[in-house]
Amino acid sequence: METALVEIGPRDHMLHDSYIAFITRVAGEQTFQPWADLGGWGDDYTAFALVENGEIIATIGRMSMRFVIDGAISAGYQLGAIATRLDRRNEGHMRRLLEHILALPPLDNRTTLIFSVPNAAAIYPKFGFERVTEWQFLLPASSSSPNQRPAVLLDISHADDRSLLSDACREAIELSEDFCAVDYYPILLWHLSHRALTAVRLIEPEAIVIVQQTGGSLHICDIATRSKFFIMDHVSTLATGPVETVSFGFNPQGWLSLEDIEKLERFETDEAAGILFSLGRPSPRGRIGRLPELARI
Ligand SMILES: CC(C)(COP(=O)(O)OP(=O)(O)OC[C@H]1O[C@@H](n2cnc3c(N)ncnc32)[C@H](O)[C@@H]1OP(=O)(O)O)[C@@H](O)C(=O)NCCC(=O)NCCS
Repeated sequence: METALVEIGPRDHMLHDSYIAFITRVAGEQTFQPWADLGGWGDDYTAFALVENGEIIATIGRMSMRFVIDGAISAGYQLGAIATRLDRRNEGHMRRLLEHILALPPLDNRTTLIFSVPNAAAIYPKFGFERVTEWQFLLPASSSSPNQRPAVLLDISHADDRSLLSDACREAIELSEDFCAVDYYPILLWHLSHRALTAVRLIEPEAIVIVQQTGGSLHICDIATRSKFFIMDHVSTLATGPVETVSFGFNPQGWLSLEDIEKLERFETDEAAGILFSLGRPSPRGRIGRLPELARI
């Protein structure tokens, strides 16, 4: 039986449904459809699928991205939706897809990242990927509470708010010069479309901040803005109730006062939240950083 390797781009609408249905079945949750419905599947995202008798048996999705590593911006990729149908595993299908993708031009050894679930972490070193240590950052909330500043909540079901967000991402400065990504609106939209996150638009300074509050813990996932400011000055605006601790989905050191940097606690990320692998150069290996949480697929 012939197994065809098919590329699915943003305009191959006929194949989107089967790709999304396949990923949903393997992942056990629906995360792609709301994103596709909001127009998230753009030119940056290509899906690669193995198809037999019109049915998908394995997939890998590839997002084109730009990474910042040690202050330098470089083009690269992130791979996700790595899945083979349960009854067709251990037949080399993932290997065929991955080797095909890694052999595609441009063959300039560009950085390629994969976030792996713990169960699959033994796979990627076989293909030359190196494990990257990532960090999470936590700060006790300051007792002083600056004045409440004006802010507006964005609603991504509205096209105008999505455009605001996409423009803000395009113009945003990097979250960290050490290691991060820039202009990843499609991925940010994917997170916003299936997770309980809130996008808050600050007016002064002009910025969009994505947050999630659970009890007294405020998690600041991302900031899209054109110039740096002290994020802790805005906790009372971003929070929906009293805040005891603030955690960050990125390396926040450039967004904190010296006093706050001294209080910042740092831990290696929990493996259950995903293990980062990197292939190519420059590599983020050895950086005290974190790929922004909302840049992960
Ligand atoms: C992970 C998954 C995609 C592997 O697909 P597959 O088609 O069975 O993989 P292949 O048969 O091409 O295996 C490629 C290589 O990886 C190895 N491998 C496969 N699954 C592995 C695992 N879970 N742990 C360690 N090695 C594994 C194989 O032994 C093979 O090695 P070899 O070529 O040196 O002999 C599949 O098990 C799956 O869909 N799992 C559920 C979803 C998932 O966890 N995806 C990974 C997200 S990061």
